[in-house]
Amino acid sequence: MKVLQKATKTQDFCRAVRAAGEQLGFVPTMGALHRGHLSLVERAKQENLRVAVSIFVNPTQFDDREDLQNYPQNYDSDQEALRNAGVDLLFLPAYDEIYADTYRYRISENKMSREMEGAHRPGHFDGVLTVVMKLLNIIHPHRAYFGEKDWQQYLLVRDMARTFFLDTEIIPCPLVREDDGLAMSSRNARLTAEYRRTAPKLYEILSRKGSAEEKRQELLRAGFEVDYVVKRNGRILAAAVLGNVRLLDNVPAN
Ligand code: PAF
Repeated sequence: MKVLQKATKTQDFCRAVRAAGEQLGFVPTMGALHRGHLSLVERAKQENLRVAVSIFVNPTQFDDREDLQNYPQNYDSDQEALRNAGVDLLFLPAYDEIYADTYRYRISENKMSREMEGAHRPGHFDGVLTVVMKLLNIIHPHRAYFGEKDWQQYLLVRDMARTFFLDTEIIPCPLVREDDGLAMSSRNARLTAEYRRTAPKLYEILSRKGSAEEKRQELLRAGFEVDYVVKRNGRILAAAVLGNVRLLDNVPAN
């Protein structure tokens, strides 16, 4: 696995892959990799001869400094996992490489990005869309893979790619759960033992019959702070907090 930190070197590598007529798949991540990320890599491997992964903890998508500071980082084990998964290229840029403009330029969506996650995390999706646009321009993959746990992120990235005529196919991949139903997330590692026992109730309650408001009430009774539970396009989406850990989940509406 080639590990590159510079955007121009990464562009050269990816251009050579395309020039050789090989399909290139891409999985953008912020590291602290778990089975959910590796399922994206596996899917990318199935559908492309070459696979690139990026690890970049993107500061512009964190509205909360403490969340950024506490974001888990496991560069050594991440690299080992990606090597074992047969990844061809790991792009590992520093902040200045991605934000030489100090974030003067950004991508902004002014409707869906203001709802749900966006309503609770001002500027979050500007940061996500901007970094994804930059990464797609550097890697220029045939396909890029996004987990459905971040359902709203997936929709916004998909629509951005259409809007700006990007020739990368944005592929949604199913959410991966722990055995007890908790949606896999890098932030789960920050749950205390007690909150870890409560956390699977998010999925359990969302999966029950009932209105979004009934589910919100049940989550409150189970000990969650609830940011939102909403029904959108046939899905129930929720964000709820345990301690200082924010959990996202979504299920088909029943
Ligand atoms: O889903 C994530 O891990 C991040 O939002 C992404 C897409 C890598 C952009 O920083």
